[in-house]
Amino acid sequence: MRKKIVAGNWKMNTTPAEGVELFKGVAALKGEVCPCVNFIVAPPFTHLSQIVEAAKGTSIAVAAQNCAAEAKGAYTGEVSAKMIASLGVEYVILGHSERREYYGETSATLNKKMEQAYANGLAPIYCVGEKLEDREAGKHFDIVRAQIEEVVFNLTAEQFAKLVVAYEPVWAIGTGKTATSDQAQEMHAFIRKVLAEKFGAAAAETVILYGGSAKPGNAPELFAKEDVDGGLIGGAALVAADFIAIGKSFPK
Ligand code: 13P
Repeated sequence: MRKKIVAGNWKMNTTPAEGVELFKGVAALKGEVCPCVNFIVAPPFTHLSQIVEAAKGTSIAVAAQNCAAEAKGAYTGEVSAKMIASLGVEYVILGHSERREYYGETSATLNKKMEQAYANGLAPIYCVGEKLEDREAGKHFDIVRAQIEEVVFNLTAEQFAKLVVAYEPVWAIGTGKTATSDQAQEMHAFIRKVLAEKFGAAAAETVILYGGSAKPGNAPELFAKEDVDGGLIGGAALVAADFIAIGKSFPK
């Protein structure tokens, strides 16, 4: 049985005080959800350490939203994987479409970030996904295959075993337009097939999350699909009750 994960990407939202409040809300409601569901929250860098502190004893894991491509040195404004890991953070989101699109992250950058993440014991949540024009041109499978081959295929088997993948069609992020559960399943099955070409049977264990306007209303249908192992949630993760409701959406 693959792990079930619901991860909240807070993006550039919440002050430290608001983030701690949000976290407390999630932790207070978590008891309503099957302990078989693993929750992760990804606050901004500024409050990672406060959220790690608040998360002690809750079994909710903490992720960073990014890390530097370099280990250390004269890189003004960057935050290294080592700094993040030293706080007790377990995961790091890498390759989010907003980073690819607004900050020019390429596969070359992401290979370096992945290397830094693993070297410091962080498990990457690696995001892939096509833009609307790619889907309309029928290129969505090619785009996602390239995002996997150019980065994930460089991992060792041992590294791959710790990887979480998130399929986030860019046209569904923050737009209110969710992929249908059939579109999600089709792509998740494809991703698993591509991973299996390189890593064989281990790909059957890889957690593949769906992200893009996932909310309590559509999560049950998405999570009912065989290859959808949970969600990477943006907007709905900023409301504790919605985030928790998404956690309750797995089939019994
Ligand atoms: P939304 O849930 O707000 O569409 O964001 C999804 C996302 O980008 C999570 O990383």
